[in-house]
Amino acid sequence: MSSRPVPSPAPLEPPPGDTLEALALQLKDELAAVEVEIQKNLMSQVPSVTQIATHIVMSGGKRLRPILCVLAAQALGYRGPRVLSLATAIEFIHTATLLHDDVIDNAQLRRGRPSCNAIWDNKMSVLVGDFLYCQASSLIARDGDLKVLRSITDATTSTTEGEVLEITKSRDLRLGEAEYFKIVEFKTGMLMACATQVGAILAGATPDQEKALADYGMHLGIAFQLADDVLDYVSVEAEFGKEKGVDLKEGKITLPLLYALERCTPAEREVIRDGTISARRDSFLKVLEVLKKYGAIDYALGLAARRSADARRSLAALPESPAKAALLKLGDYVIQRKK
Ligand code: IPE
Ligand code: IPE
Ligand code: MG
Ligand code: MG
Repeated sequence: MSSRPVPSPAPLEPPPGDTLEALALQLKDELAAVEVEIQKNLMSQVPSVTQIATHIVMSGGKRLRPILCVLAAQALGYRGPRVLSLATAIEFIHTATLLHDDVIDNAQLRRGRPSCNAIWDNKMSVLVGDFLYCQASSLIARDGDLKVLRSITDATTSTTEGEVLEITKSRDLRLGEAEYFKIVEFKTGMLMACATQVGAILAGATPDQEKALADYGMHLGIAFQLADDVLDYVSVEAEFGKEKGVDLKEGKITLPLLYALERCTPAEREVIRDGTISARRDSFLKVLEVLKKYGAIDYALGLAARRSADARRSLAALPESPAKAALLKLGDYVIQRKK
C-alpha cells in the first residue's frame, strides 16, 4: 500500500442554479421586504385584475432586477427603505413587459405555468400589463425623485422600442449583428442598467460610480439575453419554464441563427427560411442541426461570456464589499443559467 497522503478532493463548484439561490439568501431580509411591497401593490378594486396580476407576479420569477437594484445600492453603502419600493416598481415594469411579450410571441408557457394569455386572453394580458406599469408609476411618484423617474422612464421607453424594432426585423434573414445587438440592448439591457443605476442614485453615487454600475447592468443584461436566445434552442423545457423554439417560430433572427446564416450553404439557408415560417417541430430540429454544424451555439455563448467579463470589469473601481462580490458572481450566473 502506498504511504502517500490521499489528496483531499477539490472543492466542487456549486451548480449554476444554486448561485442565484445563494445570493438571494445573502439578501434574505431585503428580498422578503420587497415581496411584501410587491404583494401590497398587486391589489386592485377589480378582483380579476388582482387575480391575473397575482398569477404572473407570484409565479416564481427570479427577481433578478430587484436583486440588482438592492446590490448596487449596498455596494455604495445605501441600506435604506427607498430601494424596496423602487425595486418593486422595476420588477412590475419587467412583469408588464412579460405579459405583453407573451401576447406578442404567442407564448403559452411562462415560469413553468400556462401564460396569462393562454389562461385568460390577450386582452386581459395587455390590460393587466398596463395596470402593472401604472402601479410602478405610482410607486415612483410616491418616492418623488426626478432623477430616478428619468432613469426608469427612459428604460421603459427603450424596452418598448426594442420590442418594436425586433418585430420590424422578424424573418429578415439579412439582419446583421449590429442590429441584433441594438435590439438586445434596448429590450433587455436598458432595464437591467436602470436597476443598477437606480441603486447607485439612491446611494448618492459619484457620476463615475453611477456610470460604472449602469455599464455593469447593461453588459450583464446583454449577456443575459444572449444566454436566453441560446436557451431558446438548447434548454430543457422543464428547467427553462418556457417553450423551446418560440424565437424561430416567431421568425426572430437571434445570434445563433444569424451567425449560421453568414456561413451556411444556399440549401441550409432555405432550411432556416422554412424554419422561420413554419411552426413544425421537424423544421426546428433541422435548423438546430445547421446551428450545431457551424458552432453557432458556442459562438453565441462565447459572446455572452465576453459581455459577462465586460460587466465584471465595469466594477473594478468600486470599493470591495460583499455586495460587489455578489454582483461579480452574478456575472457568472447569467451565462451558466438553465432557467
Ligand atoms: C425574461 O426575463 C425576459 C428576458 C429578458 C429574457 P427573466 O428570465 O429575468 O424572467 P423571470 O422574471 O425570471 O421570469
Ligand atoms: C423579450 O425577449 C424580453 C422582454 C423585453 C420581455 P424574449 O421574448 O426572448 O423573452 P422570453 O424568452 O419570452 O422571456
Ligand atoms: Mg418572448
Ligand atoms: Mg427568449
